[in-house]
Amino acid sequence: MPVSTIQELFGQIDIYLFDQLLKGRISPGMRILDAGCGSGRNLVYFLREGYGVYAVDPDVQAVESVRALARMFAPALPESNFSVEAVEHMSFNDACADVVICNTVLHFARDDAHFESMLHGAWRVLKPGGQVIYGVPIERPLMVFMFRMLGCDIRKEHFSTELDVSFAAQERLQKVRVLQMRSRPPIFGPVYEVGHFLKHQSK
Ligand SMILES: C[S@@+](CC[C@H](N)C(=O)[O-])C[C@H]1O[C@@H](n2cnc3c(N)ncnc32)[C@H](O)[C@@H]1O
Repeated sequence: MPVSTIQELFGQIDIYLFDQLLKGRISPGMRILDAGCGSGRNLVYFLREGYGVYAVDPDVQAVESVRALARMFAPALPESNFSVEAVEHMSFNDACADVVICNTVLHFARDDAHFESMLHGAWRVLKPGGQVIYGVPIERPLMVFMFRMLGCDIRKEHFSTELDVSFAAQERLQKVRVLQMRSRPPIFGPVYEVGHFLKHQSK
């Protein structure tokens, strides 16, 4: 299928994943698992380029969107690669993925136990030496306050913060980089954190 624009080839891929592709740290032949895939915006390139792509999301519509993308760009991939499941209950085998993407998902943990099971689910499917790339919003006290004024306690709906996630990742995995991103215009300071970690070879 001929591609005429960069956007057509990469879709709405996150800048950090794009950067890792440019640096050759994610390369053809790898298995990519998107845990909490949403519409699959991060998977367009991987599907087009023949990667082994897997995805889960508890939302039926989300998984249906990714299946539709796969039918278009990678019809040879089995539908069973795309599953209506939560990250903490994935039915994929242990150590099946070279890269786990978990973007704007982990902060949905309801409590400590849920957070632990989400993390365990994500690490479990990663091969030794594999990479996990996650993104989480940075919780700002002002933001919590503003939502509370609007009648929504985001500390109850979204349990974990960027600090919870990076501490937990550092306990289990080897850090490559944790990077904060600013809003445009940058008046609110850092609003989003990306973590990139490797699973130890021996585990
Ligand atoms: C903000 S969207 C992000 C979607 C996608 N990762 C992206 O970056 O476009 C959050 C997604 O997380 C999913 N989600 C919520 N809880 C989840 C869980 N326990 N396991 C996996 N996905 C979950 C939601 O259904 C939703 O599709």
